[in-house]
Amino acid sequence: TSSQPDPAKLAASRAAVALVQDGMKLGLGTGSTASIMVEVLAERARTEGLSLRCAATSKATAELAARLGLRVESLDDIGWLDLTIDGADEVDPDLSLIKGGGGAHLREKIVARASDRMVVIADPGKVVDRLGAFHLPVEVVPFGFDATRVLIQRALDGLDLADRPVLQRMRGDAPFVTDEGNFILDLSLEVIPDAPALARALSAIPGVVEHGLFLGICDLAIIGRPDGSVAELR
Ligand code: A5P
Repeated sequence: TSSQPDPAKLAASRAAVALVQDGMKLGLGTGSTASIMVEVLAERARTEGLSLRCAATSKATAELAARLGLRVESLDDIGWLDLTIDGADEVDPDLSLIKGGGGAHLREKIVARASDRMVVIADPGKVVDRLGAFHLPVEVVPFGFDATRVLIQRALDGLDLADRPVLQRMRGDAPFVTDEGNFILDLSLEVIPDAPALARALSAIPGVVEHGLFLGICDLAIIGRPDGSVAELR
C-alpha cells in the first residue's frame, strides 16, 4: 500500500473506478497506476458493499487485489468481462498503446480482449503523438530464442527499422521470466512508422507469443493531471 500515491495516477484511477457498477465482472491491469486503481476500487467496493468479480492480469495484481479484499477469480471461471482498467506505457491520439513495461502484456491483452470495454488510465507522461519512444516489449518462448531474435531483426529490416537494438530483458544477471514462463525482448524503435504492419510481422514469427502493441483494443483513455483533474481521450 503506497502512502503517497502519484496525484495524476490517483486522479485517473478515481475517474476509472467511477465507471464501475455493482455486479460487474472486471479485469484488473498491472503496474504502478493499475495498483493505485486497485486500491481505489477495493476502497469503493468496501464502503459501498459492491459485489464484483475480478480477473487479474498478473500474479502481482492478483495478490494485491486479494489482500485488499476483492474477489479474484480466474478469467476462465468468470468468463467474459464487462470492463478492464489498465495502465499503459504509451497512448497515442488513436488510442493505440504500447504496453508491457512490466512484462505482463500477454495476460493484459488476453484480459482486455475478453472485455466489453477497456479503459486505460495514465499520467500525462504517457501521452505521445506517435508510438515508439518507449521500447516495444515482445514476449518470446525460450525454445529457439536466438533464432526468434534473428527473425525479429529481419522483420524490422523489412519495415525501415534496420539496426534497431533488440535486447533481452534481464533481472539482475538472469533473464526476466514472465508469468507464463517466457522471455522478453525489448525493441528500441524510436518511432513506429506503421504499427499495424509491425504488429502483423511480429505475430507471424512462430516464437513470438505476443507483442506489446495494443491496436484497436482501448475504448477510452483517462489521463490524470497532477492537480487532480482528468482529460478523456476517445
Ligand atoms: C505492464 O506490463 C504494463 O503494460 C503496464 O501497464 C505499464 O507498464 C504501465 O505501468 P505503470 O503504470 O507503472 O507506468
